[in-house]
Amino acid sequence: MDKEFWFRRWQKNEIGFHKTEPHHYLQRFFAALQTQSGATCFVPLCGKSPDLVWLREQGLKVIGIELSHIALDDFLRENCLAGKWTTQAGMPCCCTEGYTLFCGDFFALTGTALAGVRTVYDRGSLVALPPEMRTRYAAHLAALLPSGSRMLLVSYEYPQSETAGPPFSVSQQEIERLFGDEFQVELLVKEDVLWSHQGMSDRGVTQLTEFALLLVRR
Ligand SMILES: C[S@@+](CC[C@H](N)C(=O)[O-])C[C@H]1O[C@@H](n2cnc3c(N)ncnc32)[C@H](O)[C@@H]1O
Repeated sequence: MDKEFWFRRWQKNEIGFHKTEPHHYLQRFFAALQTQSGATCFVPLCGKSPDLVWLREQGLKVIGIELSHIALDDFLRENCLAGKWTTQAGMPCCCTEGYTLFCGDFFALTGTALAGVRTVYDRGSLVALPPEMRTRYAAHLAALLPSGSRMLLVSYEYPQSETAGPPFSVSQQEIERLFGDEFQVELLVKEDVLWSHQGMSDRGVTQLTEFALLLVRR
């Protein structure tokens, strides 16, 4: 999955992954992140998700990173935020009203950009990446986070042979394999969700499970 793929998706507004409401698992399991007011939550591969706004409403500062400038410009405009673009940690960045939004490649993000961050929310990141990139994603995230960091991770599982990703099928077992050496992994919920994902049914998917995991950095 190269960068051009995602640039094209945003240019053509082919963003079926974008939800207009905050994710219900984020709202339901937010307490598991054990955040203090004023702490910072990192949202990798953030798109223009309303989850960013919801996290701010809980009193957290938010750091996002997203490849597409269109996504971040849309986010700022749709949320009536006036942001000024500068360069931080070697990357274009817009800081406004408690949001720090990096426009660039997650894999180029350095520890400087995330200094002090111990909370992560991932919905739609891991499932956006093909297998070999998922391995790099897990290793890079682990390298960026100190011991005790907590991450809420939302993923999908379906028979990968029924359609090509993204979203890719990323099972609980795979996540345990990817992150298990560096994180404790706990299942919070797992549900059949095919009934509410017409797009995946239309693609021939016959079984779709969504689940949330809590990961705690060792
Ligand atoms: C499936 S979408 C999920 C977006 C968001 N998390 C949400 O829930 O709506 C994946 C996003 O990751 C972005 N992306 C893909 N690869 C990336 C990378 N290497 N670095 C930063 N962003 C990336 C894409 O442009 C896309 O907006």
